[in-house]
Amino acid sequence: MKVFVTGANRGLGLSLVKSGLERGHIIFAAVRSLADKQIDDLQQLKDKYEGQLRIIHMDVTNEKSVEHAAEAVKLTDQYLDVIINNAAILNERDKTIEELDIHACLQAFDVNTLGPLRVVKHFLPVLRMERQRKKVNNQAIINISSEAGSLSNAYSGDYPYGMTKVALNMLTEKLKVYLKDDQINVISIHPGWMKTDMGGNNAPKLPKDTADNIFAIIENGLEIEQRFAFLDDTGNPMDI
Ligand SMILES: NC(=O)c1ccc[n+]([C@@H]2O[C@H](COP(=O)([O-])OP(=O)(O)OC[C@H]3O[C@@H](n4cnc5c(N)ncnc54)[C@H](OP(=O)(O)O)[C@@H]3O)[C@@H](O)[C@H]2O)c1
Repeated sequence: MKVFVTGANRGLGLSLVKSGLERGHIIFAAVRSLADKQIDDLQQLKDKYEGQLRIIHMDVTNEKSVEHAAEAVKLTDQYLDVIINNAAILNERDKTIEELDIHACLQAFDVNTLGPLRVVKHFLPVLRMERQRKKVNNQAIINISSEAGSLSNAYSGDYPYGMTKVALNMLTEKLKVYLKDDQINVISIHPGWMKTDMGGNNAPKLPKDTADNIFAIIENGLEIEQRFAFLDDTGNPMDI
């Protein structure tokens, strides 16, 4: 399969790239910066898995950048089967509502909610082109969400993060309705608490294990039976 991953230079994004390559998929790794230091790991993977990995510059907060990234994928004449909206930020962590910086809250929405919206806006034609070209199964848009975006799990703190992920789950539900006839699966996935820059060292899960689980979901072409398409990385339903 041909899989596009955002925020691919570190954390879960980088693990998704590794898992996808190991499983023989073609991966388009989108990164906010092409600086050597930022993409060192990806360059090594590119050498190891010759012809399987393309590194694409894309800042999800910049619509022109997203548009150019979609054009860059189209120019390879490869098109796509799967988009994984993984890039996100977790800011204003332990602040009370009285302390919140509203500009930082807007920034969180710009990356975590509007980022995936921009990506789907410009990459949907790339998914559809693949479908037109050959009969493909298992096309999917995966939005990496969080249990922090579950209304029944609301806690005080992480205000912008939780709100952006609820809104992302709504994007999933809307796309699911819109893309029903295209047979493109749309799912929000809570990846678990992982050892990454965002999750910190105390996290119990390795991002590589989550990435392998997410690829298993993609490869199995999961049929969503429950009302909402919000799952954990093993495919179990999450509370809304
Ligand atoms: N870690 C956890 O425990 C946990 C738990 C629940 C959900 N999640 C979700 O899992 C996903 C991955 O998290 P993670 O732990 O891997 O996070 P991370 O280690 O902080 O990595 C975040 C990634 O997002 C990228 N990014 C940030 N702003 C961007 C922008 N404007 N344009 C493009 N890319 C941008 C970063 O790129 P730069 O390096 O350029 O900044 C980086 O590659 C996120 O959606 C997160 O909300 C994580």
